[in-house]
Amino acid sequence: MAERVRSLAGDVEAAVSAAMAGAGLVPADPLVRRSDHADFQSNVALSLGKRLGRPPRELAAELRAGLADLDWLTDVEVSGPGFLNISLADSRLLGRLAERLADPRLGVEPSRKGETDVVDYSAPNVAKEMHVGHLRSTLIGDALTRVLGFLGATVIRQNHIGDWGTQFGMLIQYLFEHPEAAWRSKDLAAGDAGDEGRAGAVSALDALYRTARAEFDADPAFKERAQRRVVALQSGDEETVSAWREIVAESEEAFQQVYRRLGVLLTQEDTKGESFYNPWLHDVVDELRDKGILEDSNGAQVVFFDDIRGPEDKPVPMLVRKSDGGFGYAATDLATIRHSIKDLRGTRMIYIVDARQSQHFEMVFRTARRAGWLTEDLVAVHAANGTINGPDGRPFKTRAGGTVRLADLLDDALRRAREVVAEKDPDLSPDELDDVAHLASVGAVKYAELSTSRTKDYSFDVERMVSFNGQTGVYLQYTHTRIASILRKAGETGAGRGGFAPGLALEPAERALALVLDEFGATLDAVAETLEPHQLAGYLYALARAFTAFYESCPVLRSDVPDEVRANRLAFCELTRATLAQGLHLLGIAAPERM
Ligand code: ARG
Repeated sequence: MAERVRSLAGDVEAAVSAAMAGAGLVPADPLVRRSDHADFQSNVALSLGKRLGRPPRELAAELRAGLADLDWLTDVEVSGPGFLNISLADSRLLGRLAERLADPRLGVEPSRKGETDVVDYSAPNVAKEMHVGHLRSTLIGDALTRVLGFLGATVIRQNHIGDWGTQFGMLIQYLFEHPEAAWRSKDLAAGDAGDEGRAGAVSALDALYRTARAEFDADPAFKERAQRRVVALQSGDEETVSAWREIVAESEEAFQQVYRRLGVLLTQEDTKGESFYNPWLHDVVDELRDKGILEDSNGAQVVFFDDIRGPEDKPVPMLVRKSDGGFGYAATDLATIRHSIKDLRGTRMIYIVDARQSQHFEMVFRTARRAGWLTEDLVAVHAANGTINGPDGRPFKTRAGGTVRLADLLDDALRRAREVVAEKDPDLSPDELDDVAHLASVGAVKYAELSTSRTKDYSFDVERMVSFNGQTGVYLQYTHTRIASILRKAGETGAGRGGFAPGLALEPAERALALVLDEFGATLDAVAETLEPHQLAGYLYALARAFTAFYESCPVLRSDVPDEVRANRLAFCELTRATLAQGLHLLGIAAPERM
């Protein structure tokens, strides 16, 4: 195995820790951060001072003495109330950069080896259109699973589609009574069941479902027939089940079509819908009853929690089994978490679902703990996400007040991206323009999503998303193409290849870029820990800015630049390009060579 690449921040941490040990101090986090006044600062003297009741400046001076012998540190100073400002020799920066460039993993350690993350995301509902809420979960899940996988975790993707419930009995009954209603993709798209047909089938089903619902509410006779159909579906009646299968298959194909368009990694193999858990629901209920966790509440089986209370301080129950014997969403999620732990052997169960389901997941997790499935060494998290609003900041609705179709949003982004790209680069052939506009629009939508903290709400504003300026996916992709073009030119003009030269003195903009490059691994670790891809999105923007500043003040290809300096700067270009491409890839965003 390759020798592990240490980061500069890691070097400084190790040095400060060693100085603490040398001074006979208790081991503590060295609290090393980037600094505006030096390369790094350590705040440990302040926290230790408090703990030991000693003046922090005195402690800092002791640590400074302990660092004095290290030749790769150029400057260590005590400042303010007891900060330690630390600067590194250019040769140390260049050495670490060279190691990163030589490493196919760019110096990122597989820090999550040994962990199994079961990630539940996307989870659209059968016979309903995917909406913007599903877009959030899908994109965040895609980015997180990519990052976790890159860091060495075993990742199990789970698409918990809503494919079961009494609503299907109603819909199927309606379809049987209205054989003239067209909804199969083959009937809609005149013989070819292409993508248009698939999406059409789901919108047709969505509309038929609403009509069925209205009839259900208005006509007691239909209501009764629909209820009998639910029983038929649950008891496995062949004709009913085969209609249900057909509806699920049409929807699944439509979901996959959206995933392909977005370039997210979910496939049909990752689907384990609500129906998958049916056979285990009785067993789960029995187990909870035997363990004394279930309580009877007016004939229903529920779980109570002392501290989860609603209006008038009444405890809020989690409904596991209804009084009519039916199982609810909670029962299915209990079976799901049990399956993730017992069968999939997950060590961390991650649910990327709307924040409005927080209480539901808290109840599920706590029940799983009481049942002894979720043991101390295992983690379950609800990675909650906020909502996407319209460009005006208000809930996202069509002019008619309906939910906005995902496909329409993507079409909109594609149209605008095409215009913006065509204006920037009028020489692209129509085919190239198609490709670039597609990559740019998908990248724009993803970056807008992933640069916002997942817990916050944000506005879906196509105009802002596809801009070449500002913090956008298009800006990052464009920065990537600029670096790729510098490297291409260097190849064509025989300017040589990049190679970091450890003996050189660095310009301030080069040092700044080096320190940003050094943070890549720590950024990915933070994403894996907090489940917040926006930390990576923000990092890549900082990297692109640092590169732009570098390129403005440090000419690369100009003829008066000495060969060794040019090679060193080309190496900066190569490492930045590779880091940007890898980082964008982990967000699910393409890094094109030209645009
Ligand atoms: N289908 C649900 C919805 O559209 C989300 C399911 C989330 N996952 C889960 N295990 N409950 O709201």
